[in-house]
Amino acid sequence: MRRPLPASGLPRLETDVEPVAEGWRLTVGEKDQVEAQATVGLLGTTGVLWWIGVKETARRRGLGRAMLGSALYFLSARGAHEVILYVDDASGDPEQDRTAANALYESAGFVQIDRLFSYQR
Ligand SMILES: CC(C)(COP(=O)(O)OP(=O)(O)OC[C@H]1O[C@@H](n2cnc3c(N)ncnc32)[C@H](O)[C@@H]1OP(=O)(O)O)[C@@H](O)C(=O)NCCC(=O)NCCS
Repeated sequence: MRRPLPASGLPRLETDVEPVAEGWRLTVGEKDQVEAQATVGLLGTTGVLWWIGVKETARRRGLGRAMLGSALYFLSARGAHEVILYVDDASGDPEQDRTAANALYESAGFVQIDRLFSYQR
């Protein structure tokens, strides 16, 4: 999925930022009590949202949307003109249900630009 940046109109919150192999990890909460996390990277002027997650007991309270807003703002501030992400929703495993993530991304202006199908012989 893709959307242009900057993304106005999304809420934001204060996050801790640490460098990681993919780029940066944004965290809300304490080290042993992480509430929400996002991992982002930058490929030229294309931002990548590698991961976003909210602790199960903290979901549906706006934290995911605010974390997304913060991640997109972070990328814009570092020169990204667009942001892409991948949604792996093909496993059928309820642990990997991406219904919430897809609804969040669509409501935040992301549009599907391609779909990868994988097959096993
Ligand atoms: C996706 C995720 C980060 C959303 O976090 P959250 O804090 O619950 O999100 P919010 O409360 O900010 O909700 C934002 C929007 O997400 C959608 N959403 C959230 N939970 C949903 C659910 N259970 N079913 C359908 N839509 C849902 C809604 O569109 C919601 O907007 P609304 O409240 O105005 O209806 C969280 O569900 C999560 O961590 N999921 C597991 C990890 C994951 O799938 N990560 C994405 C990998 S691609």
